[in-house]
Amino acid sequence: MDGIVIRPMIEHAGAVPRIAAWFFEEWRLIYGGETQASVQRRIESWLTQRQIPTALVALSGNQVVGTVALKEQELPQFPESPWLAGLYVVPEFRRHGIGALLVQAAEREAASLGVERLHLYTPGSQQFYARLGWSVLGHRLLPGGMVAVMCQQVGVSNVRH
Ligand SMILES: CC(C)(COP(=O)(O)OP(=O)(O)OC[C@H]1O[C@@H](n2cnc3c(N)ncnc32)[C@H](O)[C@@H]1OP(=O)(O)O)[C@@H](O)C(=O)NCCC(=O)NCCS
Repeated sequence: MDGIVIRPMIEHAGAVPRIAAWFFEEWRLIYGGETQASVQRRIESWLTQRQIPTALVALSGNQVVGTVALKEQELPQFPESPWLAGLYVVPEFRRHGIGALLVQAAEREAASLGVERLHLYTPGSQQFYARLGWSVLGHRLLPGGMVAVMCQQVGVSNVRH
């Protein structure tokens, strides 16, 4: 879709309550007993730049239409770090490539921060990420159901083997 711009979420902090409502609606089962207010507080902790955690938004004009985040930790069973999370595109803007743009922007941001490998987990979007080059590391049973844990190399290792 033409005219989509990816920017740091911190530049659009006023959209955070709306984003928290989207997330709460979308991931209520995965959040378990969490409230929308606690989800909003977590999103507020992503309002940073040039560090992890952080988050990006997709803009159509001045309207926030999608989000993605980079987090240190996600699943206690997987000590690996960091993680891509909070990928969301508002329903009326889906299937125009904005999700892919957000994933690729998060990968570039992680690489620029020195990250070699990013991780994520997904209940239903495994094929979407596989198409973007992500590989499955394994599967885990979470309260909301089974998820695939995936990874993507985003930077170059300095370690010689
Ligand atoms: C998953 C999600 C972020 C994808 O966002 P999106 O903007 O629709 O993503 P894209 O447009 O890049 O790709 C989605 C699909 O549209 C297709 N597509 C991309 N551009 C297209 C176009 N111009 N026309 C038609 N289809 C297109 C892609 O091939 C892809 O197909 P797939 O579903 O078979 O993989 C979005 O559906 C969403 O927010 N879902 C709810 C939250 C969620 O599940 N997040 C991920 C959890 S881990």
